[in-house]
Amino acid sequence: MLPVAVVISGRGSNMEAIARAAQGPDSRYRVVRVIADRPTAGGLARAAALGLPTSVVPVKEFADRSAFEAALSAEIDASGAALVALAGFMRILSPEFVQRFEGKLLNIHPSLLPHYKGLDTHARVLAARDTHHGASVHYVTAELDGGPVVMQGRVRVSAGDTPESISARVHALEHIIYPHVCSLIASRRIEWRCGSVYFEGEPLVAPLIEENDAAA
Ligand code: GRF
Repeated sequence: MLPVAVVISGRGSNMEAIARAAQGPDSRYRVVRVIADRPTAGGLARAAALGLPTSVVPVKEFADRSAFEAALSAEIDASGAALVALAGFMRILSPEFVQRFEGKLLNIHPSLLPHYKGLDTHARVLAARDTHHGASVHYVTAELDGGPVVMQGRVRVSAGDTPESISARVHALEHIIYPHVCSLIASRRIEWRCGSVYFEGEPLVAPLIEENDAAA
């Protein structure tokens, strides 16, 4: 069983999807700890309701980023996690932190990376009149939202979509692709080797795609 820690800042719906999938009989991973950077994160109550250990590393109580990251690292180490899933974690991590967890750190971003790095992705996609939108699960590297993408979920943008409507469909896909990537890593079908991603023993040249036009 691959031990996974999930790190959150907010409501934690991706954390819940990852945790619920882990409770299935065939899961090869389990969630060993949910860590939040603020005590008000709604996901903490969701995690507790699922019977998961939780902890808070309260970012506001640390003098600087390096002190916060030292505490976060210690919490992850103490959990025994071999994989760390950032799920709505709203802080930018230092290159040193990322380096320390290289190949073990995942993130989910609400866009079809490399498009729309950063914030407000749904509104930006609509403003650009793109035909497709989605979410990406990627390994974290020192470049913000720039690490190798493992899997993307794609939805079609419909006429009349609002940031809220498209966000809801993207979120639904996120809840499919993030647990899926955790499973693929747990079963070693996806592997990180020396800075590159391999799928079933071959270099992954393009992200795995989950289409969901039915939801569009
Ligand atoms: C998701 O849209 C994810 O892509 C982004 O933050 C949001 C987290 O949502 N990184 P939740 O807290 O998992 O509900």
